[in-house]
Amino acid sequence: MRIRDIITLVCAFAMLFVGSAEAQNIITPAPSVAVWGDEAVDVHKGLKLYIEAPEQDAARLEAATMDVGVELRSVSRPARRGFINLLVTDVDELKGMVNAEEGYVMDITPAGVSIKAPTAAGIYYGLQSLRQIYATEGELVSCHIVDAPRFGYRGILIDISRHFRTKEFLKRQIDAMAEVKMNRLHLHLTDAAGWRLEVESYPRLTSYAAWRVPHTWKEWWYGERRHVEEGTEGAYGGYLTKDDARELVAYAADRYITIIPEIEMPGHSDEVLAAYPELRCTQLPERQGDLCIGKEATFEMMQAILDEVIDIFPSEYIHIGGDEAGKSSWKECDDCRRRMQQEGLEDVDELQSYMIHRIEEYLNARGRQIIGWDEILQGGLAPNATVMSWRGEEGGIAAAAAGHDAIMSPHGYCYIDAPQDAPYSQPESIGGYLPLDKVYSYEPTPASMDATVRDHIIGVQANLWAEFIPTDEHYEHMLWPRAIAVAEIGWSEPENRDFTLFRERAVRIVDNMLERGYTPFDLKNEIGNRPESLQPVEHLAVGKSVSYLYPSFYYAPQYAANGDATLTDGLRGTWTYADKRWQGFLGRGGVDVVVDMGEVTHIESIAADFMQICGPGVFMPCRVEIWGSVDGENFELLTDIEHEVVVDELPSFKSFGWEGSADVRYIRYKAHRSKYSGFLFTDEIIIK
Ligand code: ACM
Ligand code: ZN
Repeated sequence: MRIRDIITLVCAFAMLFVGSAEAQNIITPAPSVAVWGDEAVDVHKGLKLYIEAPEQDAARLEAATMDVGVELRSVSRPARRGFINLLVTDVDELKGMVNAEEGYVMDITPAGVSIKAPTAAGIYYGLQSLRQIYATEGELVSCHIVDAPRFGYRGILIDISRHFRTKEFLKRQIDAMAEVKMNRLHLHLTDAAGWRLEVESYPRLTSYAAWRVPHTWKEWWYGERRHVEEGTEGAYGGYLTKDDARELVAYAADRYITIIPEIEMPGHSDEVLAAYPELRCTQLPERQGDLCIGKEATFEMMQAILDEVIDIFPSEYIHIGGDEAGKSSWKECDDCRRRMQQEGLEDVDELQSYMIHRIEEYLNARGRQIIGWDEILQGGLAPNATVMSWRGEEGGIAAAAAGHDAIMSPHGYCYIDAPQDAPYSQPESIGGYLPLDKVYSYEPTPASMDATVRDHIIGVQANLWAEFIPTDEHYEHMLWPRAIAVAEIGWSEPENRDFTLFRERAVRIVDNMLERGYTPFDLKNEIGNRPESLQPVEHLAVGKSVSYLYPSFYYAPQYAANGDATLTDGLRGTWTYADKRWQGFLGRGGVDVVVDMGEVTHIESIAADFMQICGPGVFMPCRVEIWGSVDGENFELLTDIEHEVVVDELPSFKSFGWEGSADVRYIRYKAHRSKYSGFLFTDEIIIK
């Protein structure tokens, strides 16, 4: 209904233009409605800028207008020609749109530019569109734009724990976020690998827990996980002082972005326990990453930290983590057991829930709301919590169904720490494959979703975890342009989203970022998905039965792919083993399968591909034997291939096969695991 109303209005307006031009693919995120004319404003003598907005906003909007690139002169009343008029005012045309308070209406006519919006944020977004028009077209083309975001929460998570990032780096990302109308920066400030915010009441969080040796996350995580005193030779790390954090908050606010700080609890807290070991559950030497929930000192500490955090960050939301607690130390701890008994808690899930409830109550009493990762549903959700759904969408949907707000960041679409192109062409990463089109294809509230659930999905977020991202350049490479896809998912209605058009704009934005010294992934050079996976492969064994030797040579249930049919279904794997096309074998034996061709068949080649990604423990076989048989009992060796498995950083793919001439019915394919423990993955046994 509302879109139709707007279109009627816009059509009426469009008739004012003689020979109105076709819709143009200029603005990112794609606007709600844009009607383009074929005239332009004469900017040669500069434009007169008039702003009607609260004082602080007026200064922000003036700065943002400067970025458009047109020469400007501020004036104290609206000019009749050659103007840019920015008015914070009621705007009838936005009424009825879901997030009208962030919307704007922009008219560009030969006389000048007018942007009206109910809030200064709306004007700011209009200015981003104006800047894009000038940058793309080289002139201010006439148009009428009515635009408002689909979701109120359009965010990015930046992880500064695994590798510290400076405030200068963060400001650059805030600039880029603002240009695509994103409005929430979730700062992952604390995690095992480093605490990154000054806390006066607990100084060892930064004098000790912010520093580690050695510097790569991988060596540190798989080594002793040692923190060291600040100033120790070789100490790697850093933190934001309170002044730094306040400066960032103000910088983001000037761009209508709210910084949401995340203080992880009770899990992912190894660094806190390293600095304050008295908060460990037990003093046993084993590794512990969960805060002790039995000890009151834990609450004293977390509340004192949160007091300081809310003094710095005005954000209504404080993210309290809540993900991936191991929960095992709680079972061994007298204090935790006592707490469970006293509070009548059935299990450790309820113990975690007890802590989240208490922390929520503490923050609510101070006017703040909590966000937690979807594990905070376990043991009972705190009454006012917002859930950030990452292990999929189920957590977000369950929270929304229970009347809570939810933010979607499912890892299959929003975890942009996976490589975005052919893994061999990309820097070392956590693995997987998440190209721009896959991110863009994410739909947070499909039509099939219950309407009451849909109403509680307040937005979407891209998460960029930094374990494998040691440098700023690499971080920007991972972030952009995929975060722009998330910006568009968050802003644009589904009917305005089109990947081909989006990609054209994303290439333009990337080029512009490259010119300005950013280091985004250069989309122009994208290789794309594994060519073998693009269409089914035809060969003699498609649809033939495969028998597995259970259990030593059976596939792992989480990587079953298409079950027993996988290796002869004609479907080749993509760049990631998580695509349900690669089948994963974890057993001691490796792969040992027999394909039954159904009858004696003349064959000339047999081959299967394997992949190696050492980070997550996926290795090539060290030996492959291929056998043929007419009767299924007497097998003749066709080939026996040795392969030296070498641990390396880049993913690789390799085919192991035989070529010759044979008449057989049964083919046995046996791939041996190397000395490295981990998976073997293969996708298809191709027989020709
Ligand atoms: C998460 O990725 N553990 C939130
Ligand atoms: Zn405990």
